[in-house]
Amino acid sequence: MKAVSILALSSLLVLAHSNQLHDKYRHLTEEVSIVGTTRPQANEGIQYTEQRFQPSLTLLSPMARKINTGDAIDLKQQPCGGSIKGGVHFVATPGSRNFIGWKVSHSVPNGNCTIRLGTGPNEEDFKVLYPLDKSANKNGSFPCGREETTLEGKEVKFPKNFTCDSCTLQLEWVVQEKGSVQQHYCADVEVIDKEVEECAGKCQGGGICMNGECKCRKGSSGAYCQYKDSDGPGIFTMFLYFAGFSIILAVIIALFWGAYVYIKKIEAEKERMAAVEREERLSNQKQGREMENITDKNSGIPESQSQFQRAGFQKAR
Ligand SMILES: *[C@@H]1O[C@H](CO)[C@@H](O)[C@H](O)[C@H]1NC(C)=O
Ligand SMILES: *[C@@H]1O[C@H](CO)[C@@H](O)[C@H](O)[C@H]1NC(C)=O
Ligand SMILES: *[C@@H]1O[C@H](CO)[C@@H](O)[C@H](O)[C@H]1NC(C)=O
Repeated sequence: MKAVSILALSSLLVLAHSNQLHDKYRHLTEEVSIVGTTRPQANEGIQYTEQRFQPSLTLLSPMARKINTGDAIDLKQQPCGGSIKGGVHFVATPGSRNFIGWKVSHSVPNGNCTIRLGTGPNEEDFKVLYPLDKSANKNGSFPCGREETTLEGKEVKFPKNFTCDSCTLQLEWVVQEKGSVQQHYCADVEVIDKEVEECAGKCQGGGICMNGECKCRKGSSGAYCQYKDSDGPGIFTMFLYFAGFSIILAVIIALFWGAYVYIKKIEAEKERMAAVEREERLSNQKQGREMENITDKNSGIPESQSQFQRAGFQKAR
């Protein structure tokens, strides 16, 4: 879940960024076309007078260098079109397979690409990375950017004995239109030495081999994602569930007990009150009868009306 959201966020960022890049490059290629129209020589510039847009491509994976508005970008310039080294967004290991991907905004019918990796400022120091699908010729050049698409790419294998803290991955696009012109796109990558086993084709359960390591799907783990977490929760998890359940049960029991005790108390109180009342009534009656007896015996002054009446009645009789 987390990985998915990170992926979504980063692709959004990449897209936002690529639009920026595109604007930047469009402006530049317009400049190229001006050069081309004033001096229409091969390799000096391209005439795109009939075309509204120039060939345009954006490196997506690894993420292209961020272009600052102040940078003097000229895509023809080797090795990186004049772009400045930036932060590393891509970490790979020697010998790992990596997908190099790009978006083609404006295609060229016979375009070719070359992918290179290097540290130095000169293109000669760069090593050519050959696509694993063997689509490249001896020089590492393969057809690319011939159709407009949101994602085109090749899987390449990084050299086994090559590491670098901050090196450059270069994508060179050769476009031909009245002479061939190179465009250079770069990304900053890190190749760190770590003893890793090749994992391509070995990751199980839908895991993906990335930088020599299996990235497992949710629910599986292990170096090759060979363990399924859904085999059952661990003992600790079970214990946690049990403890939580017990606490909830205890709380419910306590609540019921409390309510029961309270109700009992109220009932006892009611009963007590009733008993008191009954007793009061009884004692009142007893008192009344005693009084009657007293008055009857004495036949004297009655203390209550009823006794008076009764006395009167008795007299009249
Ligand atoms: C490879 O490059 C060399 C020198 O740049 C060139 O002479 C040769 O024709 C190229 N080979 C292919 C197959 O393009
Ligand atoms: C790296 O390995 C390649 C062959 O696999 C070899 O040609 C090259 O010289 C090696 N480079 C270093 C720096 O060891
Ligand atoms: C791309 O490569 C093909 C075959 O190697 C070649 O015929 C074509 O001229 C190349 N395109 C450019 C623009 O150099």
